[in-house]
Amino acid sequence: MRRLLLAAAALAAMAGAAAAQDYPTKPVTIVVPFSAGGPTDTVTRLVAEPMSKSLGQQIVVQNVAGAGGTLAAGQVARARPDGYTVLMHHIGMSTAPSLYKNLPYDPLKDLQTIGLVTDVPMTIIARKDFPPKTLEELVAYVKENKDKLTYANAGIGAASHLCGLLLMKAIGADVTTVPYQGTGPALTDLVGGQVDFMCDQTTNTTGQIKAGEVKAYAVTTKERLKSLPDLPTADEAGLPGFEVSVWHGLYVPAGTPEPVVQKLNAALQAALKDENVASRFAELGTAPVAAELATPEAHKERLSSQIELWRPIIEAAGVMAK
Ligand code: MLT
Repeated sequence: MRRLLLAAAALAAMAGAAAAQDYPTKPVTIVVPFSAGGPTDTVTRLVAEPMSKSLGQQIVVQNVAGAGGTLAAGQVARARPDGYTVLMHHIGMSTAPSLYKNLPYDPLKDLQTIGLVTDVPMTIIARKDFPPKTLEELVAYVKENKDKLTYANAGIGAASHLCGLLLMKAIGADVTTVPYQGTGPALTDLVGGQVDFMCDQTTNTTGQIKAGEVKAYAVTTKERLKSLPDLPTADEAGLPGFEVSVWHGLYVPAGTPEPVVQKLNAALQAALKDENVASRFAELGTAPVAAELATPEAHKERLSSQIELWRPIIEAAGVMAK
């Protein structure tokens, strides 16, 4: 009996190794942890096209929204580690361990990093008839009217949530938060005037800012953006040192065979060199990361250091999801 079991285990290992060598032999799914049409979805669909060409297989983008991105991250952490379920996620992967008491996965143990993708700036925006004209006026106005205002985000753990935490801390006020399944629908409501203001990524807001459909106060990077040259940085506009950018990376379940991780990484590296990706990213205020950051090791280092960086900031803010 024992010999039988050993033979079966050896056969299974050989089958797994063969499958890894032949990977991919069917479509690959990239899970987006927020609703369609938002910034994470946009970044994913832009890199999915060239990645699909490199892998020689269709890539299906699947939106699994909920709990600020942690629902999707948990699902992928528990998926079969065969390379056919990939996750695109952002800075929220590093804040969730401090925000969620009972996070059903450990980002560093249950997920395997594939590589970093892009660092996306954020913009502080409001409905177009919001009274403040400048960021300085917005700070005073929010302090004055904090009990009447609504701030949109994509749930605890979203980038819009994190930026909101930092913004309220800098302003010294707290307002009512309206959570959405992603900042795609949140921006629709902001344009419609149903919610007052929010902080969201340029990969989502650039078009509406240029179209004058929202009022833009600042960008959250050190330098102004070529894509939005008239938009001041938060630092120059009244919130000295206010900076946050949203790094993104690809993940697979821990235990995914190394040959599969390498093939996905090679496809990501090729996508980041794709001219269309670079030009679309530039139009949207961002850029592909440098090749040396698009590696599993560099991505893991970024994730681990960011988990440590955000822990005391989030604990000091006293925010904990259920
Ligand atoms: C989205 O894709 O909807 C955003 O990443 C949500 C967020 O993190 O604010």
